[in-house]
Amino acid sequence: MNTGENGDVMRAIAISEFGATPVRMNLPVPEPGPGEALVKIVAAGLNPVDWKIADGMLKDTVPHSFPLVLGLDGAGVVASVGEDARFRVGEQVFGRFFGVPRGLGTYAEYTIAAADDVVARMPEGMLYSLAAAVPTAGMTALAVVEEGRIEGGQSVLVIGATGGVGQPVVRLASRRGAMVIATARPDMAQRMRTLGAAETVDHTRGDTAALVREIRPDGVDAILDMVGDRPAAERLAGLLRPGGVYVSTVWGVDPDALEARGLRGVNISYPPTPELLERVVELLGTGEMLIDVDEEVSLEDAPAALARSRAGRARGKTVIRP
Ligand SMILES: NC(=O)c1ccc[n+]([C@@H]2O[C@H](COP(=O)([O-])OP(=O)(O)OC[C@H]3O[C@@H](n4cnc5c(N)ncnc54)[C@H](OP(=O)(O)O)[C@@H]3O)[C@@H](O)[C@H]2O)c1
Repeated sequence: MNTGENGDVMRAIAISEFGATPVRMNLPVPEPGPGEALVKIVAAGLNPVDWKIADGMLKDTVPHSFPLVLGLDGAGVVASVGEDARFRVGEQVFGRFFGVPRGLGTYAEYTIAAADDVVARMPEGMLYSLAAAVPTAGMTALAVVEEGRIEGGQSVLVIGATGGVGQPVVRLASRRGAMVIATARPDMAQRMRTLGAAETVDHTRGDTAALVREIRPDGVDAILDMVGDRPAAERLAGLLRPGGVYVSTVWGVDPDALEARGLRGVNISYPPTPELLERVVELLGTGEMLIDVDEEVSLEDAPAALARSRAGRARGKTVIRP
């Protein structure tokens, strides 16, 4: 790729190697190649996968370039385009920019929308902060609810309900007519009810499976889990009624073991597609999906926001303003 041939530099949050602390760097403004657009980032969305990539989560599956600018989700304005690009200069775009192999990311003043990135024109009237918060959380939440085949009348337990993915999951499942039980610390219980949860369980009070069993002695039809590792998922799966389904975004499920017990297990592998992003936009429009921007921080504060994400207690989405 041509990078910074015009000599311009930009502010970015990047790492110099796997495991390094993300820091502010001045890096060359990338230049769009054929089919690509240079996007001036107005807002970037923070996801746990950002610090997981920094830790090396994808090191065996995807090539990386260093310094590596962090961030996949973003929204901004097309600043220049390469030959045959699908966008025009001045258009507002948002989506998931996968620049890892080239060291590019959205925690920067500029990034590149490659031809195969799931990046689209921003819907009329959508704010940049929401557009940056939506892509990963929205597409994942939709995939979770669809893979779970959630429908009216089901009893659905959502683990990690207060987070970036959990909140749209709670909303989508309850709008489909499911009776949702959401995990939440006390300060988030009302928020969960506003999203449509029928009941909440404070997961900090003890063993979540035992707490749910107290209010649902007959168990639940589905568990949508954004948190639990294999042992935790194994304990919670005991709540499932025959024919029930367990969906995990963190590879907590052993589908074969569940199948042997007459249950269905699905591990979600992040499936970004233009169609999925389009459907997320539609669902936001009808109110069937809601995504909450909890905080906006400056680019310089992004490393601290990443550290907070790692420590837990997310209350919705964090957006970074370069
Ligand atoms: N597979 C995929 O394709 C895919 C896609 C997107 C995300 N993910 C993964 O899915 C996970 C969730 O993502 P996210 O963006 O929603 O993260 P997030 O915004 O950080 O939210 C996580 C939520 O889980 C809650 N939580 C933590 N421990 C809990 C427990 N034991 N019981 C119940 N709730 C608990 C946290 O609140 P408290 O700390 O207050 O409890 C927080 O609200 C991340 O690990 C992410 O990497 C995977």
